Amino acid sequence: MHLNSCRLVDLPKIEDPRGNLSFVEEGSHIPFSIERVYWIYDVPGGETRGGHAVKKQQEMIVSLSGSFDVVVDDGTTTKRYHLNRSYFGLYIPAGFWRQMEDFSTNSLAMVLSSTRYDEQDYIRDHEGFLAYKKNSQQYI
Ligand code: TYD
Repeated sequence: MHLNSCRLVDLPKIEDPRGNLSFVEEGSHIPFSIERVYWIYDVPGGETRGGHAVKKQQEMIVSLSGSFDVVVDDGTTTKRYHLNRSYFGLYIPAGFWRQMEDFSTNSLAMVLSSTRYDEQDYIRDHEGFLAYKKNSQQYI
């Protein structure tokens, strides 16, 4: 799976003098059914989250408040996305290593996931991820 399969999705933005509104719909903006939603907040300055890969889970990450970077790694190349608007979602298919860093004060990251939480789906060491990619490429 190439890094190009990760993409920033433009979410609807309904502008209104009372305040703006955005939304995500399965089938329209994300190519998976949402099984779980989690969010990351109160991140101390300089901390990183999510240094791991997942084998089956697809996800979309939205910065609901503040900003942070998501670094996506396909085992060969990395790409950094700066998320700072609540009407952009970063879609990440299964099989990528990804890390979240450079969180601003009061940032709020929402993650829409295609699966329930399953620790067996995670690869938490980078060497293991590289071995997994090498191994899975033998079967393509
Ligand atoms: P972890 O995956 O390490 O968080 P991150 O990738 O954001 O750094 O998860 C931290 C802890 O929370 C770990 O013990 C697993 C647990 N957890 C759940 O129970 N359910 C969930 O949906 C998630 C994402 C994590």
